[in-house]
Amino acid sequence: MHKIFFVTSNKGKFSEAEKKIKNIEQKSFDYPEIRSENLGEIVVYGIEFLKEKIRKPFFIEDSGLFIDVLNNFPGPFSKYVFNKIGCKGILKLMKNEKNRNAVFKSAIGYYDGETKMFEGICEGRISTRMSGKKGFGYDPIFIPKNSDKTFAQMDIGEKNIYSHRGNALTKLVKHIQKS
Ligand code: IMP
Repeated sequence: MHKIFFVTSNKGKFSEAEKKIKNIEQKSFDYPEIRSENLGEIVVYGIEFLKEKIRKPFFIEDSGLFIDVLNNFPGPFSKYVFNKIGCKGILKLMKNEKNRNAVFKSAIGYYDGETKMFEGICEGRISTRMSGKKGFGYDPIFIPKNSDKTFAQMDIGEKNIYSHRGNALTKLVKHIQKS
C-alpha cells in the first residue's frame, strides 16, 4: 500500500490518525487557512494550495469546538481561542451556565488526483472543571455523549470511538480501502 501524508503540525491529531491508518506519515507544510464559518471550505482551499506541491496522496483536517450557549463560539477559530484563553478561559465564559451542550466537528480533505471530503461530529458537553491529562486542546473540558469521562481521561483508542476526528477518519479509511 502507498504511503499517505497527513499534512499537519499537530502531533495529537497525527497520533489519533496513526491509530486508524497504518501507512501514514506526518508532514509539516504551511498552507493558508482562510477565515470561514465552514470547516469544509477551509479544507478545500488548503487542498487547492497543496495539491501542486505534494506528489503523494495526502489529507488535511480542520476541526473546531462549537458551544451552544456561546452561539457556536469558538468554532473555526478554536485554535486561536485556545492559544489565547485556553480551557480555563472557556470555563470562565461558561461559569454558572446551565446549558453546557457543545459539538466538536472535523472535516478531512483527501487528495489523490481528485478531492474527497469526509466529515465527522461528536456531540457532548463542556464540563465544569478540567479533568485528565491526555490528549490536547480542549480535551480536558469536553465530555462526549454517552460517556462520563472527558477526552483527556481517555486513551487514543477510546477517544477515537467517540470523537469527531475518529468518525471522519473511519469514513476516510473506508474510502481508501475500496480505492
Ligand atoms: P485546527 O483544526 O488546526 O484549526 O485546530 C482546531 C483547534 O480545535 C485545535 O487547535 C484544538 O484547540 C481544538 N481541537 C480540535 N480537535 C480537538 C480535539 O479532538 N480535542 C481537543 N481540542 C480539539
